[in-house]
Amino acid sequence: MSEITINIDGKEVKTKEGEFLLNAARANDIFIPAICYLTRCSPTLACRICLVEADGKRVYSCNAKAKDGMNITTKTPAIEAERRAIMEVYDVNHPLQCGVCDQSGECELQNYNLEIGVDAQHYAVKDIKREARDWGHIHYDPGLCIVCERCVTVCKDMIGDNSFKTVPRGGDALEVEYKENMPKDAYAMWNKLNKSLIGLTSGGEMLIVHRVESVPLFVR
Ligand code: FES
Repeated sequence: MSEITINIDGKEVKTKEGEFLLNAARANDIFIPAICYLTRCSPTLACRICLVEADGKRVYSCNAKAKDGMNITTKTPAIEAERRAIMEVYDVNHPLQCGVCDQSGECELQNYNLEIGVDAQHYAVKDIKREARDWGHIHYDPGLCIVCERCVTVCKDMIGDNSFKTVPRGGDALEVEYKENMPKDAYAMWNKLNKSLIGLTSGGEMLIVHRVESVPLFVR
């Protein structure tokens, strides 16, 4: 890959032709929010929060490739509104128990809510009962899961087994007014989130039991 120059938020940045914009930004200490992308894995394209403008068009920076002379803007009022709506959507029916949650203080959801300044909730849908499950050494709590699908990607790319997949969640559909009135990416992400949970592929439980002790399941 040849070396090229791109411009991110007015800063000239050297990178390789075809590098993902998110990686080019990270290598140059430029922050772009990104929940589902894992270094060394293929893009998951589940969270949509990494969106930026590249030469005036909206792209997902974890999946868009750098081209020489490209101009990237990581923040515009529309992008910030979209990211905020996405974070609010993640908070819909998420348990409000940060005060007693073991993950509090080391929680990306909490961090991004603070970073993006979410201080109110504009969206709602009736919740359903979501039972926790134990898969070998893994305890899965769908009440806490934001279906970022990192577990799906890391199993596929790092372990080489498709042990996890998204499965239907059930429950009420979103009200139609949301589709008309919400930022587009936030609605699309919520619509998918509201229909999905994580489940095992056929035989996945056996694979997890045997492999989880030797392979880190979550890598960044
Ligand atoms: S980090 Fe790009 S879609 Fe999630």
